[in-house]
Amino acid sequence: MVSTTEIQSPDKDAGFNLSAYLAEKQALVEAALDRSLPVAYPEKLYEAMRYSLLAGGKRLRPILCLASCELAGGTLEMAMPTACALEMIHTMSLIHDDLPAMDNDDYRRGKLTNHKVYGEDIAILAGDGLLVYAFEWIATQTQGVPAERVLQVIGRLAHAFGAAGVVGGQVVDLESEGKPDISLETLHYIHTHKTGALLEACVSSGALLAGAPPETLQRLSRYAENIGLAFQIVDDILDVTATAEQLGKTAGKDLRAQKATFPSLWGLEESKRQARQLVEEAKAELEPFGQKALPLQAIADFIINRSH
Ligand code: IPE
Ligand code: IPE
Ligand code: MG
Ligand code: MG
Ligand code: MG
Repeated sequence: MVSTTEIQSPDKDAGFNLSAYLAEKQALVEAALDRSLPVAYPEKLYEAMRYSLLAGGKRLRPILCLASCELAGGTLEMAMPTACALEMIHTMSLIHDDLPAMDNDDYRRGKLTNHKVYGEDIAILAGDGLLVYAFEWIATQTQGVPAERVLQVIGRLAHAFGAAGVVGGQVVDLESEGKPDISLETLHYIHTHKTGALLEACVSSGALLAGAPPETLQRLSRYAENIGLAFQIVDDILDVTATAEQLGKTAGKDLRAQKATFPSLWGLEESKRQARQLVEEAKAELEPFGQKALPLQAIADFIINRSH
C-alpha cells in the first residue's frame, strides 16, 4: 500500500519541500474526510462509502484545490469543504470505473475494490451516495465565502463531472476499447474529459472560492488543463512500467483490455516527452505569480516524476 511518506520528488525549488507540503496537506484532508462522513443507517452503505473514501490515495485533487485557493489569496478553511467534495467525486468515479461493467478491476488503492467487498449493487449505490453528498457538503459546509462564489463552484464542478466532462470521457473510453484505429483526436477527447476535466475543476474551484480575478482564473485553468492531460498520459505509462505493488491497482490492464492509451498510440518514449512538454507549458502559466506558485509548480513536477 502507498503511504504518504513514500512520496518522493526531486525538490528542485530551493526552499520548497514538496514531500513535506504534500504530507501536511494530506493529513489535513484525511482528517476532514474522516469527519465528513460518520456512519449512520443503513450502515452497510455508509461503510462502503467510507471504505473507498478513506482508503488512501494521493489526495491530489483536494490538494490542488487548497493550493490554488491559497495562491489566489484565500484560506485553507474556505476551500476545505470543496476539497473534500472533490475527493468524494473522484473516489466515486473510481468505484464505478472498477465495476465489472466498466474496467472490471479487483484492486484499488492497495485494497480490494468496493464491489469485491460489498457487491456490485452496494458499490453502485455507494458511488451515487458519494456523488450527491459532495454537492451537499459544499453547499452546507462552506464558510467565509460569498454565496455567489459557492454557487459558481457548484455549477462548474457539476459541469466538469457530467456528460460534458468526466462522464462523457468515460463513455468514449469504453466505446474505444478493442478498437485499434482510434485517432489522436479521440484519445485526446478521452483523456481531457475522463481525467482532465475534474483536475481543471479542482484548480479553478480553489481560485473561484478565493475570488480570483479573471486573468488569474484563466492562467490557472490553462495550468490545470495541461497537468490534467499529463496526469492521464503518466497514468497510461505507469500501467505499462510500474508494478501492482507500486500502483495499488492491477498493472498492465490497459493492454489486456485493449484500451486507447498514449503509449499504445505513440510508444513510451514519445508519451513521456509529451507529458514533460505539457508540464513545462503548465509551469509557464504560473510565472507571473512568483513565489506564491511554488506549490503548484512542484505539484506539476510531481505529476511526471511520480511512481504511483
Ligand atoms: C486514478 O487517479 C484515476 C485516474 C484519473 C487516472 P489517481 O492516480 O489520482 O488515484 P488516487 O486518488 O491516488 O488513488
Ligand atoms: C479513470 O481512468 C478515470 C476515471 C476514473 C474517471 P483509468 O481507468 O485509466 O484509471 P485507473 O487506471 O483505473 O486508475
Ligand atoms: Mg477506466
Ligand atoms: Mg480503470
Ligand atoms: Mg489507468
